[in-house]
Amino acid sequence: MNGRDLVRSMRAVGAVGTAHAVRTMRAAWRARRADAAGLPPRGPERARVPGTVQEVRPGPGGGVIRFSRSELRVIVAVNGAVFWGWDGASPEPSYALAGSPEPDARAVLEPDTEGGWRVVAERVTVVISRHGAVEVQTPGGVLVRRELPPRWWEPVGGGVARWTQRSEVAADARFFGLGGRASGPRLRNGTYRLWNTDPGRAFGPGDDPLYITMPVQVVVADAATHLVFHDTSWDGTVTLREGEEGAGSGHDRPGASELRMQGGPLRCWVMVGTPARVLLVWASLTGAPTPPPSWALGHHHARWGFGGAQEVRRIVSGYLERGLPLDAVHLDIDHYDAHRVFSVDREAYGKLPELAEDLRGDGVRLVSIVDPAVSAEPGHDVYDGGMAEDAFVRGAAGGVVRGVAWPGEVVFPDFTDARVRRWWGALYAERLGQGFAGFWHDMNEPTSFAAFGESTLPRSARHALEGRGGDHREAHNVYALNMARAGYEALRDLAPEQRPFVFSRSGWAGMQRYGGAWSGDVATGWPGLRASLSLVLGLGLCGVPYSGPDVGGFDGFPSPELYLRWFQMAACLPLFRTHASLRAGRREPWEFGPQVLEHARVALVERRRLAPYFVTLAHLAGRTGAPYVRPLWWSAPEDRRLRDCEDAFLLGDALLVAPVLERGVERRAVRLPNGRWYDTATERAYEGPGEVLVDAPLSRIPVLARSGAVVPVRGDDGGLELEVWAPAPGRTGGGLVVPDPGDGWAEPEIERYVTRWEGGRLVVELEHEDGMIASPRPVRVRGLGGRRAQM
Ligand code: NOJ
Repeated sequence: MNGRDLVRSMRAVGAVGTAHAVRTMRAAWRARRADAAGLPPRGPERARVPGTVQEVRPGPGGGVIRFSRSELRVIVAVNGAVFWGWDGASPEPSYALAGSPEPDARAVLEPDTEGGWRVVAERVTVVISRHGAVEVQTPGGVLVRRELPPRWWEPVGGGVARWTQRSEVAADARFFGLGGRASGPRLRNGTYRLWNTDPGRAFGPGDDPLYITMPVQVVVADAATHLVFHDTSWDGTVTLREGEEGAGSGHDRPGASELRMQGGPLRCWVMVGTPARVLLVWASLTGAPTPPPSWALGHHHARWGFGGAQEVRRIVSGYLERGLPLDAVHLDIDHYDAHRVFSVDREAYGKLPELAEDLRGDGVRLVSIVDPAVSAEPGHDVYDGGMAEDAFVRGAAGGVVRGVAWPGEVVFPDFTDARVRRWWGALYAERLGQGFAGFWHDMNEPTSFAAFGESTLPRSARHALEGRGGDHREAHNVYALNMARAGYEALRDLAPEQRPFVFSRSGWAGMQRYGGAWSGDVATGWPGLRASLSLVLGLGLCGVPYSGPDVGGFDGFPSPELYLRWFQMAACLPLFRTHASLRAGRREPWEFGPQVLEHARVALVERRRLAPYFVTLAHLAGRTGAPYVRPLWWSAPEDRRLRDCEDAFLLGDALLVAPVLERGVERRAVRLPNGRWYDTATERAYEGPGEVLVDAPLSRIPVLARSGAVVPVRGDDGGLELEVWAPAPGRTGGGLVVPDPGDGWAEPEIERYVTRWEGGRLVVELEHEDGMIASPRPVRVRGLGGRRAQM
């Protein structure tokens, strides 16, 4: 969308007036002028390729290979991940990494054929050709990925080099990831931009890029699954082209990926194995996903424009009186005083701590929006404090950069500076004092409205980048990641007994260390519903397991059917939130008629019943990096038909969810992975692999359970029970259960259950230090017509 559309749409929702629109014109001119002065034109460029191998220096985990015009460092880390960096690039400094991965001392650099070199490690072999192509192979020698020799374009007069990295993957490979993409989860042929962007209006499947982009690809092929991460935060594009297998005697055409970056180090991580293994290594590299507090796994209701505390109470009562479970209410920017961050509109929300306490008494937490933009008004305490601290981003000429956001003229904290993160983090004390229990980071791409050009800070804006110094070209994509860090680290200190709850619109690789994400302003409509699933699946594969969309879409008036189908799907996603824009239709379940209300109630009650399963998935994600929501190919990447299946997902190991994504559908085809699956509503058994037709009446979307699965659920008395889906005759099953360790830092226990048949009896046992013991938890067997287990 161009800038004029942006202004028009902002005015249409009544978000801004004419003065605001004029400001966005001025801001755009200012940014253009700043960049013209601060970023001189590149001038003529010279191309460079690595040349040929000259000498090698073995080192821990690999070594350095010197080419005539570059140098390549290769390291295999103990977790099996492979790193390589050109032109002297090493793994650090990096905003993505959680620490320094240790090199695997057993991996050694040795000569290969034709003047090349190779590093042989336990899980991978890395082959480096004489001209600088890097191949990753399985230990059996099967090619996983080939990165061709890179090419740099360097300004003749000195300055930042652009570069291109072309790669090949197997002809049968499918691409996933690249952050939150609306047109996935399978990323088809096309060019995807790596620049976190507020599209400026509600988005649908054709919109790219969006708020969270990451140079992370998950590639699934017969030979192996691999994750590749080019650790560079600069602007760039990835062009993907799926391969083709030669029919009959024809040749295969490999899949191709071309990464073009505007600058930054050319360095890369690759991890190979099963999907679960790849995500485990990714989490060990970039940090474990922090499990949200248990209440954040329930239902959240938000609205831009509640209008005041009274309306919030009315909505909460609406839920309670109708017996609808509700766990959190989110206050948007309209609860601020004149849209100023860390402030409260005293008239509409006079006694916020009291409201928070009352809601808390009903089991409902308050969550606050936090925007990074600070109103540039002397006298506004956050602005004054930030100025005194020299916290705001400055331009190349030295002045504080001004942009435009909801409050009008604004300035932006430089979150790439530890000192600024500390200053900003301390401000969350005010929020905690108001009674907020969680934080919703918004507009942090960062967005500064502009009537034309880019809706963000000028590229020439200066950033500390942890003391290294640099500009917005490098800092832009990691801005929100560092805002999340500021919030998370401060909350850990300010409320040390609680795990922080932070989720963010924008972010980058590693953001899971600090919290989750949400899908942003997805367009109301069936395509938006599909797009919102694509985002959650893509983010999960990039290591961010906690996310979810706004039920009903952000901008319009969903039909009762669309709202209901969205509600039913979101009830099976980690973040389950209803929210909408200022002028959009309402999103309370009772606003869509009695039939929708009853069906929404079923979804809410089921979500609450499954709370122990969500808690388990959250903590397992923290241990293993495995997303709660997984593509169907997760445990069977070799099943090619599953790779192309984008309209269903696995929720953990046990459940398969087949949402209704089209109007008027009450029966749908579901592709099943191998094994027996039960429709959880009818207990009817289906055998996979294959495609089956399953009823999807308005009252529910199909949820199937894997035979043998152990699903922790909340019993009628609130206690933890096990719902066991009968294994097929002669088969075994099992599952992991993490009893809720509370919202603090207690190390969660993991219980391992096994299910098996013993002479016609179904036995459910817990692995114990003394061996297997009968399940100490109540068990309910399903898939046998509800018969109780005999133990
Ligand atoms: C943009 C966010 O994406 C949306 O969810 C929010 O309601 C508005 N900003 C206002 O804060």
